[in-house]
Amino acid sequence: MSDSNDVTFHVQPGGSLSGQLRVPGDKSISHRAIMLGAIAEGRTEISGFLEGEDSLATLKAFQAMGVEIVGPTQGRVAIRGVGLRGLRAPVGPLDLGNSGTSMRLLSGLLAGQAFDTELVGDSSLMRRPMRRVTEPLARMGALISSGDDGTAPLKIRGGRQLRAIDYALPVASAQVKSCLLLAGLYAAGRTCVREPAPTRDHTERMLRGMGYAVEDGGGRACLTGGGQLQASVIDVPADISSAAFFLVGASITPGSDLLLRHVGINPTRTGVLEILRLMGADIEVRERREVGGEPVADLRVRGAALRGIDIPQAQVPLAIDEFPVLFIAAACAEGRTRLSGAAELRVKESDRIQVMADGLQVLGVDAQPTTDGMIIQGGGLNGGSVNSQGDHRIAMAFAMAGLRASGPLKITDCANVATSFPGFVELAADAGLSIGVG
Ligand code: S3P
Repeated sequence: MSDSNDVTFHVQPGGSLSGQLRVPGDKSISHRAIMLGAIAEGRTEISGFLEGEDSLATLKAFQAMGVEIVGPTQGRVAIRGVGLRGLRAPVGPLDLGNSGTSMRLLSGLLAGQAFDTELVGDSSLMRRPMRRVTEPLARMGALISSGDDGTAPLKIRGGRQLRAIDYALPVASAQVKSCLLLAGLYAAGRTCVREPAPTRDHTERMLRGMGYAVEDGGGRACLTGGGQLQASVIDVPADISSAAFFLVGASITPGSDLLLRHVGINPTRTGVLEILRLMGADIEVRERREVGGEPVADLRVRGAALRGIDIPQAQVPLAIDEFPVLFIAAACAEGRTRLSGAAELRVKESDRIQVMADGLQVLGVDAQPTTDGMIIQGGGLNGGSVNSQGDHRIAMAFAMAGLRASGPLKITDCANVATSFPGFVELAADAGLSIGVG
C-alpha cells in the first residue's frame, strides 16, 4: 500500500481536453462485488473491476480468508463463493491500506463470523473515525475493540450471535448503512437502517441482483438475516467519481470537447453533474442504459463559462467525493461559490476542507474554509507548489487546475492516486493534459 510521499506531479499550464476515454471501474461497486461474490453460492464473474489499491485490498482480504479469487486480469475477476458461513480465519491482521470502504463494510460482515479478525490500515485510515460503525454493531451484539479515540485497529471477536436493529444513521453515510446491512445478513430478525438523506445504494442493488430481498423506500433499507446470495455476473461501470476530474477539467477550459464512456449514473452519485450544470457547465448525457441493475451513460462535456453558486444542501451526499475537484471548478468560475453542510469532508482520506483551502490559497485563490464547507471567490489560479497530503482526490483535482493556472504547478505526495485511479497520468495525457511525474 502507498504510504509514502515520493510521487510528485508537475503540470505545465494551459491546454484543453478532447477525444474519448473510459475511466477505470467504480470503486464502490468493485468493493461490493468482491464482498458479496465471496459470500454468495457459486461462481461470480466480474468485468470492469477497478484494479486500484483500495479494491485490491478488499480482494486480498477475502483471499486471506480462504476464498479462491482469480484475477484481476484486464478488469476481469472470478470468485468461487463460499456462502455466508464459508469464510475461514485469516492468519494475521487484514491490512486495508488507505481504504475506508473496506474497513467499514468489512467490520459489519466480519462481526457475524465464527472467527476473530483484526483490521488495520495506513496512517490515514488509522486516524479515521470508526465509532460510527462500532457503536451500532455493538448494539447488534458484536464485540469489537478499537483504539481509545474509536480508531483502528479494530479487533472483532467471532462467535457472536447478532440481533437485528432498527437504526437511524446520525450522518448520511453509505459506508455505515452498508456495514449494518452486511451485519444484518448474519443477524436474527429484520435489520433496518434509516438515513437522514439519500446515499449511494449500490449494496442494496447488488444484494437484490443476487437474489436477496431488500426493502427500501421512505429513507430506509431493511433486510432479514439468514438467507442466501446467488452468484452473479457483474459489469462494473466506469466510476463517476473518477470521471469527475475530466468533467471539471473540460468544463474549465475553452475549446474542450470530451466524451467519457460507460459512466455509472446511479442517481445517488450524480450530484457532480447537477452542481456543474447549475454552474453553467455543458454536459450531455447520451445513450442511457441499464447494466446489471446500475444505470450507465456516455457523458459529453465541453468547455463553458462557469459561474459561482450556493451549492444546494441536498446535493452534498450525492457528490461527497467530488468536492476537491468542484472547488477547482469554483476557483475558475466567475463569482462566489459557497458550500455548507459538508462537515464529513473533514474526515475523509484527509481533511479535505483544510487541505484544499491551503492549496487554493497558495495558488492565490480567495478560499475561506468554514466548519462545514468553504467559500471560494472565483477568478482563476496562479501556479505554485501544493501538497496533496497523500489524498488521491486532492492530487488529481490540483492536476486539473493546471489546465487553467497561469504558471507551472507542482503537486507533492501523489502516490495514493493509485488507490482509486490507476493510469490517471496516462489517461490525462491521452485527453491533452500532460503531467510530469517526479
Ligand atoms: C463510499 C461511501 C462514501 C464515500 C466513499 C465510498 C462507499 O463514504 O465517500 O468514498 O463505497 O460506500 P461515506 O459513506 O463515509 O460518506
